[in-house]
Amino acid sequence: MKALPSLLIIASTAGLLSACGLLGPKAPETTAATNLSDSHLQSKFPGYTLTEYQAGEALYQTQCSRCHTLHPATRLLENEWALIIPEMASKANRKAGGEVVTAAGQQAIFRYLYAQGMAVVADEHSH
Ligand code: HEC
Repeated sequence: MKALPSLLIIASTAGLLSACGLLGPKAPETTAATNLSDSHLQSKFPGYTLTEYQAGEALYQTQCSRCHTLHPATRLLENEWALIIPEMASKANRKAGGEVVTAAGQQAIFRYLYAQGMAVVADEHSH
C-alpha cells in the first residue's frame, strides 16, 4: 500500500503525456460523467480519450481547489474559460512555487471542462 501514491503520480503523468498526443492508449470503459464519444466533442478534440478526460479532471480537482471551491463548467463561456485557465494556472504555480499546471495541464483542464459542458460561445447559436 505504501507504493500507491507514487503509482498515482505515474498514472496521472501518463495521462498528461497522452494529453500531449505522445501516447495513445485506448482507455478502458468506466463510468465517465460525460459521453466522450459525443460527435461534437470528438470533432472538437479528435481522438479525445477517457485517459485525457481523467487527467484533466484530477488536475482540476487538485490544483484548482486550493484557493476557492471548484466552479462548475457551465458557469463560464468557452472563451471565458480559455482566458481564465492560463491566469489561474499562473496563480496555482506561484502558490505552489513550481509548475504544477503546465501548458499541457491547462489544455487538459480546458478539455475536461469542455467535456463537462462549458457554455458555448454565443455566436455558435446564430446562423
Ligand atoms: C492561488 C489561488 C488560486 C488558485 C490555485 C486558483 N484560483 Fe481561481 N481564483 C482565485 C482568485 C483570487 C479569484 C478571484 C478573481 C480573480 O482574482 O480573478 C479566482 C477566481 C476564479 C474563477 C471565477 C472567475 C469569474 O469570472 O467568475 C474561476 C472560474 C477560477 N478562479 C478558476 C480556477 C481554475 C480553473 C484554477 C486551476 C487552474 C484556479 N482557479 C486556481 C485564486 C486561485
